[in-house]
Amino acid sequence: MKFISAALMLAMLGCYSWTAEAHGRKAIKPKFDPRFVNEFWNGGGARLPGREFVEAVQAASLTVTDGRGRQRRLVLLSLVSEFALSGSGLWELFLGNLRNITFSRREGSQDHLANHLVARLMTMPNATATHCNRLSNRFGARCVPMASPIFNADNYGYKTSAYYGLSFVKVLTILDALTIGVDAFFLDSDQVFFRNPLPYMLARDIDVLVTGDCGARDDETPSARFPKINSNIGLLYFRSTPMVTRAVNEWLFYLVRKARDRRPVLDQGTFVGAMETISTDVGAQRMSVAMLIPDFFPHRCMSPCGCDTEGLSPGQLGRKLYRTEGSACQPLFVRKWYHFHVPCNGDMNSKATTLQKLLRLYQGVVGPVNSLSDPFDAL
Ligand SMILES: *[C@@H]1O[C@H](CO)[C@@H](O)[C@H](O)[C@H]1NC(C)=O
Ligand SMILES: *[C@@H]1O[C@H](CO)[C@@H](O)[C@H](O)[C@H]1NC(C)=O
Repeated sequence: MKFISAALMLAMLGCYSWTAEAHGRKAIKPKFDPRFVNEFWNGGGARLPGREFVEAVQAASLTVTDGRGRQRRLVLLSLVSEFALSGSGLWELFLGNLRNITFSRREGSQDHLANHLVARLMTMPNATATHCNRLSNRFGARCVPMASPIFNADNYGYKTSAYYGLSFVKVLTILDALTIGVDAFFLDSDQVFFRNPLPYMLARDIDVLVTGDCGARDDETPSARFPKINSNIGLLYFRSTPMVTRAVNEWLFYLVRKARDRRPVLDQGTFVGAMETISTDVGAQRMSVAMLIPDFFPHRCMSPCGCDTEGLSPGQLGRKLYRTEGSACQPLFVRKWYHFHVPCNGDMNSKATTLQKLLRLYQGVVGPVNSLSDPFDAL
């Protein structure tokens, strides 16, 4: 009884403060409508992947041998919106770059990373992925629609349902791939690769890998916790294990609960907490996590030329790198890059321009894309 009245009072307080605010100066509060959540999560749990997605993942998956000699199946995943397909060339740049990352299969045939990418197209319920496939199939990549009335053809406005919906599509797409039993290598499309990242991921005996800010760390020791520095989920590697699948399901459920409480949160801000809730509970032997070394996996929010952590001890902040005379980044550091990700770089046009510049820089300073890639065992 006491509990009920306390809950009632809290509810009334909540209602009161909201009403006071609504009558105040800033009465026009963007109204968050959580009904779209049902497109991703029904009463019983996460919606199951459709047949189209299952078939695309089966067709795109690549079998490899990891650093401990075990066979793994993996797929590359990304998201794309109708708006992103309609200009700027960022999507074609992303796919063209993945196609440049070529490698030999065990039996001698040539292959490349774009052949193993499945893109989730965020689109309206009655739309098809025809346009996306027309653009992407020539690179080897496949599109599968994820339909919701919130995904129209415009750019998704700040704090709209589509803005929040994106997080649901990302986490559900990863969960879908893990459910099928393949490792999920998720990539935002605003990055380019210079070296094949798969040998690096497969050499590590870690269940969940993510990129992050400029600080010294170790990405080879299995741990239940990430270092205390911001992560960036524009690049994520999840091994398909039952525990990792469970953790990603919990991550999605957290987004669902917060949205239904009308306090929506995003995938980026909830990733570390969601993973560590599980990994610290079960221990690093059952689920291990690590953050990739920023010298190898830089992003634009840290600095224009990445980060140097050579000789520093774990936990220390790294040295942010800037352009020197001749407006180039120093070859010593550029040679280390596996990719460059440009999250803090304005709209899609300016991202595409920056990535083109980075490709030219790399080609001028180091050599062709893929020239420093390590071999790996692809079956
Ligand atoms: C792909 O490789 C070619 C040949 O090395 C290069 O000219 C081009 O800039 C590369 N494009 C991308 C997007 O990586
Ligand atoms: C999809 O449905 C909406 C609303 O029912 C309609 O206005 C639109 O023309 C349809 N689009 C296609 C591609 O059929």
